[in-house]
Amino acid sequence: MGYGHDRACRLLLSFTNQLNLQMSTIPLILNGSARHDGNMSKVTRQLMAHSGGEEVVLLDLQLEHYTYGTSPSDDFLPLIQRFLQHHDTLVLATPVYWYAMSGRMKVFFDRLTDLLTAEKTIGRQLRGKNMAVVTTSAGGNLGDDFWIPFQASADYLGMHYLGGWHTTDDSSMAETVERMAANL
Ligand SMILES: Cc1cc2nc3c(=O)[nH]c(=O)nc-3n(C[C@H](O)[C@H](O)[C@H](O)COP(=O)(O)O)c2cc1C
Repeated sequence: MGYGHDRACRLLLSFTNQLNLQMSTIPLILNGSARHDGNMSKVTRQLMAHSGGEEVVLLDLQLEHYTYGTSPSDDFLPLIQRFLQHHDTLVLATPVYWYAMSGRMKVFFDRLTDLLTAEKTIGRQLRGKNMAVVTTSAGGNLGDDFWIPFQASADYLGMHYLGGWHTTDDSSMAETVERMAANL
């Protein structure tokens, strides 16, 4: 290969470096609460204060349920593209509703199936990205089983699971969020 090839390689490298510099290390935080300004929002506000993350509130998005067909043209794919282009870490922030993730967060999870079928090329780009989880609930104890869907899904998608942090609606919330932010 001659000079033209070397030059093309250098150009590509410089372009890639620029892209890397533009890639934000701040997390994208998906808030799955059923209300604005609830307890989950208190958590995400504190998390952003520590980590500088960007928040997307699922309640504000149009997100269809998974159908076995093509990916519905709603806010799901643009959300995934935004994450892939600008972030390395996805924080799933869900209140505990009936011992599990919120319904909105589950709808988001089911739609990840689109990335294994109709939108495989996009799905493969999740490999090597990070996933973390933060929850909030009235009760203190979450069984270990609570975290399985997150950890197993991260593994399945080839993402690094950074862990799950559980906050309760009291004064310990701030301390837990600070601990979490140090691990992102
Ligand atoms: C539909 C629903 C189900 C809930 N289920 C649980 C539960 O299983 N365990 C628990 O400790 N708290 C439960 N809670 C309390 C919430 O997890 C808690 O108040 C949380 O901080 C609410 O966050 P939000 O204000 O962002 O919705 C439930 C609340 C709602 C509205």
